[in-house]
Amino acid sequence: MILVTGGAGFIGANFVLDWLAQRDEPVVNLDKLTYAGNRENLASLEGDARHVLVQGDIGDLDLVGRLLAERQPRAVLNFAAESHVDRSIHGPADFIETNVVGTFRLLEAVRGYVMSLPEDRKAGFRFLHVSTDEVYGSLEPGAPAFTEAHGYEPNSPYSASKAASDHLVRAWHHTYGLPVLTTNCSNNYGPFHFPEKLIPLMIVNALAGKPLPVYGDGMQVRDWLYVKDHCSAIRRVLEAGRLGETYNVGGWNEKPNIEIVRTVCGLLDELRPRTDGKSYSEQIAYVKDRPGHDRRYAIDARKLERELGWRPAETFETGIRKTVQWYLENPEWVRRVQSGDYRSWMQRHYEGGVTA
Ligand code: NAD
Ligand code: TYD
Repeated sequence: MILVTGGAGFIGANFVLDWLAQRDEPVVNLDKLTYAGNRENLASLEGDARHVLVQGDIGDLDLVGRLLAERQPRAVLNFAAESHVDRSIHGPADFIETNVVGTFRLLEAVRGYVMSLPEDRKAGFRFLHVSTDEVYGSLEPGAPAFTEAHGYEPNSPYSASKAASDHLVRAWHHTYGLPVLTTNCSNNYGPFHFPEKLIPLMIVNALAGKPLPVYGDGMQVRDWLYVKDHCSAIRRVLEAGRLGETYNVGGWNEKPNIEIVRTVCGLLDELRPRTDGKSYSEQIAYVKDRPGHDRRYAIDARKLERELGWRPAETFETGIRKTVQWYLENPEWVRRVQSGDYRSWMQRHYEGGVTA
């Protein structure tokens, strides 16, 4: 079995769902259920004995130590993090607590567990740390995309906290021999994405008739990766990645934000036209820029392709269409996330008790 942390969030939930759709190896899912954790993302696993959700903190050494000893996972995949740049600007403390201190404590718990394993199981064990391209800092227009050899130059409290966690993971490998793998991926998008991030926010605001806030001139560039492609990359790295290595994961889809917003508007114009016949792009509103806003991220994912044969299956055009369709087909998920009802949904749904 495997232990996934943060598996009720956007990427973690997609990972758990895809994992169990493809194989029978059970998952213990440790999630603190912050505002970003939504048990409803895992509703399709209700009653499935292969999945156990445990509400708890990666920084809780006793809990994590106990879970590891009881469940004996062959791998730990760390998705748990505070993940939103704008929140990190307003309140960095939680980012330091979870992303830095939490990762440190998780590494310590895992180190204790791995030391207790017999040699054959120790050799097969993996700690996979999920990180971001934002640790590399900002690129000038035309500069080559980030390779794994690029220096760490994080600019936001979020990216600095993720960079710190990557360094800890690296050090636990070099110093203690912990069998680690790190992935640094670009901006994900797809189902279950919390509508505080660019793409889901634009979809839900457009449908609600609200302004579509574009920061600054809208010409900041990100690389976009469909979340299910990210999940397949993580499975591949877990399976065959070289110990202690880092792998960049990207979608080969560098685009300025304004183009993303216009694409979302165009798809909504086609799939759910406004009743007044106008385009959703009329709702675009340029707003004050994010402080310290990184201008450009771009990922060179050739190492992952060369060594492990991974490439994304979706183009941006296919992935964004699926994403917009998912939001149109799941208005109840959107409504409960927006109203805050999702935080009590499971309690109501299961009349009080699920979590192990
Ligand atoms: P998310 O914010 O949607 O989910 C994070 C999950 O972690 C939530 O379920 C939350 O409840 C849980 N969590 C938070 N603090 C915790 C703690 N102390 N203990 C246990 N659980 C905790 O984030 P996401 O977008 O799914 O990102 C997952 C990982 O991928 C993060 O490490 C993030 O840095 C990384 N990443 C995300 C993106 C992206 O585009 N979303 C891009 C690159 C890297
Ligand atoms: P976001 O989804 O927050 O991801 P990140 O900051 O981790 O890249 O933002 C993606 C880009 O979109 C980023 O350049 C900021 C911009 N953005 C907006 O222009 N308007 C918004 O309302 C949001 C949330 C983001």
